[in-house]
Amino acid sequence: MLKNRKITVAVTGGIAAYKACEVVRGLVKLGADVRVAMTENATRFVGLVTFEALSGHPVATSEWEHTPEGAMPHIELNLHADLLLVVPATANILAKAARGIADDLVSALILAHRSKVAFVPAMNRHMWGNPATQRNVADLKRDGAHFIGPDSGFQACGDVGEGRMTEPADILDLLPGLFSEKPLSGRRVLMTVGPTYEPIDDVRGITNRSSGRQGFALARAARDLGADVTVVAGPVTVKRPAGVRILPVTTAREMLGAVEGELDRSPYDLFIGVAAVADWRVADRLEGKWKKDAGLPQLRLVENPDILAAVGHRAGGPVTIGFAAEATDLLENAYAKLEKKGAAMIVANVARDALASDTNRVLVVTDGEVDEIGPADKDEVARKILYHAVDLLEEDYGPEDDL
Ligand code: C5P
Repeated sequence: MLKNRKITVAVTGGIAAYKACEVVRGLVKLGADVRVAMTENATRFVGLVTFEALSGHPVATSEWEHTPEGAMPHIELNLHADLLLVVPATANILAKAARGIADDLVSALILAHRSKVAFVPAMNRHMWGNPATQRNVADLKRDGAHFIGPDSGFQACGDVGEGRMTEPADILDLLPGLFSEKPLSGRRVLMTVGPTYEPIDDVRGITNRSSGRQGFALARAARDLGADVTVVAGPVTVKRPAGVRILPVTTAREMLGAVEGELDRSPYDLFIGVAAVADWRVADRLEGKWKKDAGLPQLRLVENPDILAAVGHRAGGPVTIGFAAEATDLLENAYAKLEKKGAAMIVANVARDALASDTNRVLVVTDGEVDEIGPADKDEVARKILYHAVDLLEEDYGPEDDL
């Protein structure tokens, strides 16, 4: 989504300016075409040469220096931009932008912007909480500006609280959403992701192979399409998506409890069961660590609850999508699962194609049709699956139902 995007990064003078280096580096790595402008104060925190090296272009700091961008950098840098990203955005630049003050290059850039503008605030928690800043943020949002963060946590000044800049990796994760249409806006999506882990004793257990990568890719895609996303996640180590609520669990029964708790609390439009739930658990888990010289433990396995089927057959429940990783007979198994799980759609794949891989190839099976997606990277597969989900939701709650 960021490949070949023209992005102008405006760096203002906060201690978090050093993190803007990582943002520029990340954008360039993702294939974006990046230009950088800095306020004079920003150059006190990070040298301009750093941004020149990272972006591969001269950095503009003043209206009065003619750069290759032309004689009027505040116009030229905007002409170049699909997005003007202000990172970090100080309280001062937010105030100036909200009032339309243009007394240096970066503020003039913001006033003259003609595409999207996004602010990534970074400041002390008292500055962020100040009613003046909050008023400015509200005004800028009303005028159509996007905001990423701020987060809460440790601050450079030693305080702990809201105002900390969103981490570069999360900024990079959230930016594609600014370019996405929002067919899932107003929709609530609940998902299960990752494996479950069923303990045998304190150190051993039964689990399934699942990295959580395809599940998190779906969560990101749903978020980018405008949905409010909650993920019940088994033990996974891959990077979690930003801007998504994560409820961590370990066992299948905990996963079911968390899913049912969510559905009992408030209605969801869509449920996507991506988790590789362990089919069995040990009936009587052993205490401590079973000693090898105590002989072979006698394990009795019992079946775990089927979370997808429980949601699929729930009266008044969400539209339900399941996954089926199979060794053979993809289509027959998918049709059988539609029925058994009460699902509106089954996404079937060949297990060995998907495991521990960045790409996937799937069949999307609904009552009426079969569509093949891929082989493609898991993000693209996720987006295409979600467009099928959008169709299902529109069928389920078509415009006539909204009347
Ligand atoms: O029955 P099978 O495991 O092949 O079905 C796969 C689908 O069912 C996936 O969507 C998976 O998340 C879901 N599932 C579940 N609870 C189980 C087993 C599978 O939600 N106990």
